Amino acid sequence: MCGIVGYLGNQEAAEILVDGLKKLEYRGYDSAGIAVYDGENSKILRSVGKLSELAKLVDTNQPVGVVGIGHTRWATHGKPCLDNAHPHSDCTGKFVVVHNGIIENYLHLREELIEEGHKFISETDTEVLAHLLEKFYDGDLVKAVQKTVATIKGAYAFLAFTEHEPDRLVAVREDSPLVVGLGEGEQFIASDIPAILKHTNRVYILNDGEMVDLSRDAVKLMTVKGEPVKREILTVDWNPEMAEKSGFEHFMLKEIHEQPEALRRFLTGRLNEKGVHLEELNFTVEELRKYSKIFVVACGTAYHSGLVGKYVIEQLVRIPVEVDIASEFRYRSPLIDKSTLVIVVSQSGETADTLAALREAQGRGARVVAFTNVVGSTIAREADQVLYLRVGPEIAVASTKAYTAMLMAFYIFALYLGQIRETLGSEDLAKAVSAIKEIPAQIEKIIVNNEEPIKQFAERFTQFEDAFFIGRGVDYAVAMEGSLKLKEISYIHAEAYAAGELKHGTLALIIEGTPVIALATQKSIYEKVLSNIQEVRAREAWVTAVALEGDEEIKKSADHVLYIPDTLELFTSILAIISLQLLAYYASKLRGCDVDQPRNLAKSVTVE
Ligand code: F6R
Repeated sequence: MCGIVGYLGNQEAAEILVDGLKKLEYRGYDSAGIAVYDGENSKILRSVGKLSELAKLVDTNQPVGVVGIGHTRWATHGKPCLDNAHPHSDCTGKFVVVHNGIIENYLHLREELIEEGHKFISETDTEVLAHLLEKFYDGDLVKAVQKTVATIKGAYAFLAFTEHEPDRLVAVREDSPLVVGLGEGEQFIASDIPAILKHTNRVYILNDGEMVDLSRDAVKLMTVKGEPVKREILTVDWNPEMAEKSGFEHFMLKEIHEQPEALRRFLTGRLNEKGVHLEELNFTVEELRKYSKIFVVACGTAYHSGLVGKYVIEQLVRIPVEVDIASEFRYRSPLIDKSTLVIVVSQSGETADTLAALREAQGRGARVVAFTNVVGSTIAREADQVLYLRVGPEIAVASTKAYTAMLMAFYIFALYLGQIRETLGSEDLAKAVSAIKEIPAQIEKIIVNNEEPIKQFAERFTQFEDAFFIGRGVDYAVAMEGSLKLKEISYIHAEAYAAGELKHGTLALIIEGTPVIALATQKSIYEKVLSNIQEVRAREAWVTAVALEGDEEIKKSADHVLYIPDTLELFTSILAIISLQLLAYYASKLRGCDVDQPRNLAKSVTVE
């Protein structure tokens, strides 16, 4: 969802802006642009399509200047084309803006401005901002921005520059993230930390209803009404390499390979000889004992992690867990109160529906714990408690390492609750903790053993347009995530079914050669799954099984077997998904798809 970058300092701005925009590519975009002020004019360069097009334009035009703003656009108002790409300017060309989000009353404002004589070039809602700044400006950009904010409605962030005050950038946030990066004699601003990480790790995170006035030597934070805001500087502990590909062809492959290390980081300091130790959560024992129900609310892959979480929490803690898609939860008047604990799960911490669900839950009196990756994200700041995923920046649109960390968060949170509510004996707890400690090394082994064979048979996936994923229990939840991974990046239509449900309709779609990926990692229901695999085999499906090491029986029913090391039945999900991530990756790559930035998708979904 659109990305903003701004720079004000003493270095050439164009290079910094394009480089910063590259780090925001993961958010999804269809056009891009920059404006650089050369001391006399703002030179605007815009392109449609990939950032390489913008980089070529910059190479040819060599814009010179030490202040500028940049943007990647993901079309909402008006098709992706040059005229609609940002930055946008006013009638005089003296005000330039880039904007994320939506100005809901833009049509009405546009008509008014046209009546007043303003000339519009694009179909975007953004252009009204530039004309409003032109209209309201009386020598102070901050005041013009404040008047503009008072006139518009919506969920947005925007960054403005005017040639009248070339040593100043002004930005405002209302529901769309903005981060200020603090330098020495230079300042940065962006939609997300990776865009500025190369230059500084000292940041201010803006809250809704706040704005920032940047000059080379000062950063003034204030509310949109002009009241000064005091904020602690946040020091980000990600290093710039974490946001680079480190020799991998795609970010997704790098992030799949990073999982063992990311999970070790996740676990650091959170397990000890007594069990799980979650210092960052400050629940009282009484509080944790009083909850009679848990809701998990999230979107997409994060929602799938919640489906696994339900099995794990219900088994280990014996509390009923409901899992809801955030966009459904918020509109269905959910039955929650003070005795309900709500867990929201979000890699980005900015997903609009998940954020709205969090607010809905708090509004109904529930306490909210967030499992999120991004420190300082809106969800992290608004939740009552936060368990960070600590996986570093996830750049590929398809989530991999954040998903396995979400699963790990559910495992250890369930153990933590089980410990406190005494639903888990010390022996079981010790067994679970030792199983968890082995997981990172087990993932390493899966990647080493399975990547090559998966590469080989993914070739066959290039011919198919449909695939089915089946499993029971936790395996069913993993099947849903495996199916989403395959469809979102390879564009193969994929469905996940509870294996026992196939014969109630879906079996009609299974014909000779149909690819079926069958998960058979649950010992307690193994025979049942085997029967379901036989059902598809009898229709001559092409079966790939994910099974536990040592399972020779499965070879009789499957064309390929991807083995995972044995672990506790509740924890197989985190191992089983690895091969499915690799399968999706290689199927996508071999089909020639854009692995890291699949069509129509964005990394951070900040609109409803
Ligand atoms: C799929 C994927 C999405 C996200 C969803 C929620 O690979 O990444 O389904 O999981 O958009 O995003 P977050 O976790 O940032 O709230």
